[in-house]
Amino acid sequence: MPSYVLMRILESSPDRYDRGVRILTLGRLEGVYERLASRIKPGQRVLDIGCGTGALTIRAAMRGARVKAIDINPRMLEIAGKKIEEVALTHRVELCEMGVAELDTEAAESYDAVMAGLCFSELSEDELCYALREIMRILKPGGLLLIADEVVPRNPLKRVITLLIRLPLLLIAYLLTQTTTRAIKNLPEKVEGAGFIMESMRLSRMEDFVEIVARKPGG
Ligand SMILES: C[S@@+](CC[C@H](N)C(=O)[O-])C[C@H]1O[C@@H](n2cnc3c(N)ncnc32)[C@H](O)[C@@H]1O
Repeated sequence: MPSYVLMRILESSPDRYDRGVRILTLGRLEGVYERLASRIKPGQRVLDIGCGTGALTIRAAMRGARVKAIDINPRMLEIAGKKIEEVALTHRVELCEMGVAELDTEAAESYDAVMAGLCFSELSEDELCYALREIMRILKPGGLLLIADEVVPRNPLKRVITLLIRLPLLLIAYLLTQTTTRAIKNLPEKVEGAGFIMESMRLSRMEDFVEIVARKPGG
């Protein structure tokens, strides 16, 4: 779904983020997040990285997890806070204005699961490697890493088609926000390279979007 490039525009207007995402993804992201959140169990301690307006956070809290949800955008956190209040889940969620760069402040082996929905594609290559290393450290042995994000297709034809569709969208997003997202190259290899065991991986038909369930060894 090359339309994910336009997420940056939606982020600059958080009030419209949820509606915009539903339209851009034709509602498909909801199914992806439901599947990922179905891995969360009651009582688990969960970290949502780049929580945005709380799509994954709320799903995990509804399943009985205690969630720490972090994001660098205070306006996204504000909307997440309102939504969490509306569904009466404030007792299960801690919202923090905090970036990936601060993950080293989290205690080792303190989370049962870490989730990241469409956040890794907003990180630099170095930040992503750092994030994966830190997630490995802060997860308990056997803990889960749940990712949904845009990736560069492996198939050369699909790569070219996706690039051609992405380019004008990239330009629009950049002109409006001076930032852009970056489809991730070789994400599964990066996850495995950080020491995780791949439990399941689901690619979109165009191979430009992936859902990953990976596990820290042990437990
Ligand atoms: C496309 S939104 C996705 C939000 C949410 N996970 C969802 O799926 O609806 C990406 C989010 O990542 C956040 N983000 C980007 N870079 C970050 C960083 N370095 N640390 C923490 N959050 C970050 C953005 O502020 C934004 O809210």
